Amino acid sequence: MEERKAETGPVAAAKGGATPAVEIAGVNLVFQTADTPVYALSDVDLTVGRGEFVSFIGPSGCGKTTLLRVIADLQQVTGGSVRVNGVSPQAARLDRAYGYVFQAPALYPWRSVLRNITLPLEIMGLPKAERSARAKRVLDLVNLSGFEKKFPWQLSGGMQQRVSIARALSFDPELLLMDEPFGALDEIIRDHLNEQLLDLWRRTGKTLLFVTHSIPEAVFLSTKIVVMSPRPGRIIDVIDSSLPRDRRLDIRETPEFAAIAHRVREGLRAGHSYDDHV
Ligand SMILES: Nc1ncnc2c1ncn2[C@@H]1O[C@H](COP(=O)(O)OP(=O)(O)O)[C@@H](O)[C@H]1O
Ligand SMILES: [Mg+2]
Repeated sequence: MEERKAETGPVAAAKGGATPAVEIAGVNLVFQTADTPVYALSDVDLTVGRGEFVSFIGPSGCGKTTLLRVIADLQQVTGGSVRVNGVSPQAARLDRAYGYVFQAPALYPWRSVLRNITLPLEIMGLPKAERSARAKRVLDLVNLSGFEKKFPWQLSGGMQQRVSIARALSFDPELLLMDEPFGALDEIIRDHLNEQLLDLWRRTGKTLLFVTHSIPEAVFLSTKIVVMSPRPGRIIDVIDSSLPRDRRLDIRETPEFAAIAHRVREGLRAGHSYDDHV
């Protein structure tokens, strides 16, 4: 889709073939705090294939954000190994292997939509014409063509979040890491954005790692659902979805959907995930 610079070295070598997008083996992560250590991740194993849509679900504190931050090289593990596109998280970060979308859109209010999206490209030093061309392409992917000149405060919350998705895609990363991107939005908007996100995923072939609190959202979006539990943060179940990749919202009324949602719920219950929360 995008023209890429000629690539050499270990990152380029690992990119070819069937190298998984993410390989996590025996990962532990302990935060040393003033009083007691916090076991944020305990014995985590996970492989994510190229082009998968993986959701992470579990209550607050089960290590979902920590796991994404480990993959993004924003947090170091205390044990085990992590490979992203076949290389270390640091090498993958330097190769701009991923875009990151946070729960809050984190847009600059004084920059237009266009100039929010082109910011990473300015930092990369791309020429202006190239920056604009790429911004237009990603705005089309999030169905916001024509909104280039608007400012973030002129847009709804859902539109702002689509701008932040476009920004994360602007440099054409292979992975998109999304940490509860639609958590603050109401259910009707969220349904709509979920359909758009699936469409974007199918059109781009990106690998998506998506954190959510919502069982229907996880089941609707994913090819693989990772159920997590806190204290210590760990994986309770990994569910490979039997739903077809091409799906519409009405798939939520099928027995297959209900069966997967049931298994997610059982996993959460087995992990006593919500004992402290309900
Ligand atoms: N920098 C940090 N220092 C100490 N504890 C942390 C830090 N970051 C996260 N934690 C703790 O690690 C656990 C997992 O946190 P987090 O990954 O944010 O969970 P989630 O995203 O699933 O809500 C929580 O108990 C949290 O309080
Ligand atoms: Mg979190």
